[in-house]
Amino acid sequence: MADTPDRDAVLAALDRVTDPKSGQGLAQAGLARGLALGPGRAGFMLEVAREDAALYAPVREQAEAALRAVPGVERAQVVLTAEGAASTPARPKGARLSDAAADQGRPKAPVAAGRPDHVKAVVAVASGKGGVGKSTVAVNLACALSKLGLSVGLLDADVYGPSAPTMLGLKDPPQYADKKMVPLEAWGLKAMSIGLLVDPEQAMIWRGPMASQAITQMLNEVRWGSENAPLDVLIVDLPPGTGDVQLTLVQKTKLDGAVVVSTPQEVAVADARRAVTMFEKIGTPVLGLVENMAYFPDPLTGAPIPIFGRGGAKAEAERVKARFLGEVPIDMALREGADAGRPLVAAAPDCATAQVFLEIAGLVRDRLVTMKV
Ligand SMILES: Nc1ncnc2c1ncn2[C@@H]1O[C@H](COP(=O)(O)OP(=O)(O)OP(=O)(O)O)[C@@H](O)[C@H]1O
Ligand SMILES: [Mg+2]
Repeated sequence: MADTPDRDAVLAALDRVTDPKSGQGLAQAGLARGLALGPGRAGFMLEVAREDAALYAPVREQAEAALRAVPGVERAQVVLTAEGAASTPARPKGARLSDAAADQGRPKAPVAAGRPDHVKAVVAVASGKGGVGKSTVAVNLACALSKLGLSVGLLDADVYGPSAPTMLGLKDPPQYADKKMVPLEAWGLKAMSIGLLVDPEQAMIWRGPMASQAITQMLNEVRWGSENAPLDVLIVDLPPGTGDVQLTLVQKTKLDGAVVVSTPQEVAVADARRAVTMFEKIGTPVLGLVENMAYFPDPLTGAPIPIFGRGGAKAEAERVKARFLGEVPIDMALREGADAGRPLVAAAPDCATAQVFLEIAGLVRDRLVTMKV
């Protein structure tokens, strides 16, 4: 394992970058707060006032370059956060992401997100409640879309509990090329996780704007696609819930659509309803609801045994006029695959559960085509 870089060497390197406001070095000026050092890596939050965001965008880049030049630093991450931000206005209801082009002319913070370059559609996988299998669905849906022939990326944006590194078996830090991060390749997907960049314990204490800024950077500073090989769809695994963090994220990332995951229990369904309402409020089309852990297949016949009750998400989909995308059974192979870094859909595409994901993927693809995103 790589050694942890020397703190004094890191601070000295940051002092060689000038704070444009005070004229001092960044560390001296107190701008390197929350410096996080780990094996082979260094990173911190560059917190500035909203009106100074543009001024500090190049400083962020210089600081990252300075960190990378310190012996022992293989990965450097500086997240620029502008506090007190007036957030980017939400897209009007019904607007498509192709309208993002029209947004380009509006004044905005330097790292405010639109659609990342060479990405045709961005789809969030969200849930009102944690632990309902959102990441499991995100990863397997991404693999299923890839099996349908699309070129697919997975962005694990769950700053508070990143799971893509485990679920996809990602280990290596991302490399940089031409100032952009190169996503990792796994199971036919391009993948990137906040867990590969930032210490999860550090992320736990982030406030909403910081988390949102970090995700904005992951969208825009990763080479998801190129002119010759654009990405058809980028699946974003959002943190669970419908609080301020999620709202800020979805407003800033201007999603083409959202897939909401629920389990059959009433409380999960009620939380899913809140997620649907959140997306409606900001004008992101809900592509549909997935009911996860919907039933337990009889070990002999495969017939569904509903152990949590059944159909809650389906009924909810009808109630909120969202499409019901499918029922994913409780399948130990799904969990084992996730724990072993081998997504079930990629490793055993013929099994019954993988087939459910392929059907869901077909519906998501059709929905995106109809929306002409
Ligand atoms: N259909 C399923 N069958 C069996 N196990 C499942 C299924 N769906 C999810 N799991 C397991 O349940 C646990 C929680 O799933 P997952 O991490 O995908 O949930 P999450 O909603 O992303 O959670 P969090 O809110 O922590 O991000 C994991 O151990 C996962 O392997
Ligand atoms: Mg998760």
